[in-house]
Amino acid sequence: MVDLPDLPYAEANVTLSPHTWYGVGGPADVVLIPKNRNEIIEAFQWIQTQSCPFLIIGSGTNVLICDKGFRGIVLITKQIDHITQTENDDYTIGSGVILDRMVREIMLEKNYQGVGALTGIPGTVGGAIFMNAGTANGSICELLDWVDILGADGVRRQVIEPGMYEYRHQSFNKSGEIILAGGFHFDKSEEDQLKIYEHYIERRRTRQPSGRCCGSVFKNPQGDHAGRLIEACGLKGQRKGGAVISPVHGNFIMNDSSATYEDILFLMRLCRDRVREKFGVELEPEVKIVADNGLLGRL
Ligand code: EPU
Repeated sequence: MVDLPDLPYAEANVTLSPHTWYGVGGPADVVLIPKNRNEIIEAFQWIQTQSCPFLIIGSGTNVLICDKGFRGIVLITKQIDHITQTENDDYTIGSGVILDRMVREIMLEKNYQGVGALTGIPGTVGGAIFMNAGTANGSICELLDWVDILGADGVRRQVIEPGMYEYRHQSFNKSGEIILAGGFHFDKSEEDQLKIYEHYIERRRTRQPSGRCCGSVFKNPQGDHAGRLIEACGLKGQRKGGAVISPVHGNFIMNDSSATYEDILFLMRLCRDRVREKFGVELEPEVKIVADNGLLGRL
């Protein structure tokens, strides 16, 4: 058990389910919700004096947390939500800013290119950068000039080059370091980006389910789609306890009535095993699975 630090934004024994989209997750020993850069640096310094597991969450869209909770410290970045225009088309955006807010307030407002790559993706800017979120139209790291990263040696400004990221992965931020902000450069578009936004929102409304979930459960294997493979195994609509493989999209597992961590893991394993048997393809989770001992849970 971790001792509560004397910080005004620290709380002990906090249930994590309300901090996640899945609505699943037991209590964490200590939760820190810093409101600004100074507080997050101070929080991180304290975390480094502790020898327990440590987890960073943005808006909790892409995590599946154990019902037994988390024996360690959770740092929630969602209040680091500043947006500053630094030059004409350059912006510094805090890691806790909701991605859709960035799209609507900046990209649509100024008709910048790239809306099709980011429309409708849940989560924060920091979380999106961490996993290089995107769609078939591109990904967030393509829009980045630099990222401010808080690590053991303090804050460093990392200039981003194209070779530093790939599909749902980047190599500039080590696990355990915190993305504080991104420096974005946008280019004006000739096309009407609002039309593109509305098109993808509508497409999502019809092709993806709404409700408690984590977005895509698995990464798409190269040259294919996890949803297609899961559907081809006849798994859509399969249920375990309060969890169900969405009848709308095979790569979404929904918590539709008090699903447990184990219910969701059961369905994930079922998808992985059936797809492996039928197609010889290994599905890799996109959602981050967090076990109670702090180790990243494996399927
Ligand atoms: N498909 C099926 N059956 C299904 C679902 C999909 O056959 O049950 C087929 C579709 O017909 C389509 C193809 O699979 O031909 C792709 O489906 P979709 O357009 O829904 O895209 P996706 O590859 O499943 C990716 C992102 C989503 C993003 C969409 C935008 C990943 C892992 N997922 O999904 O991102 O919304 O593109 O089109 O890259 C997320 O990251 O959380 C997320 C939701």
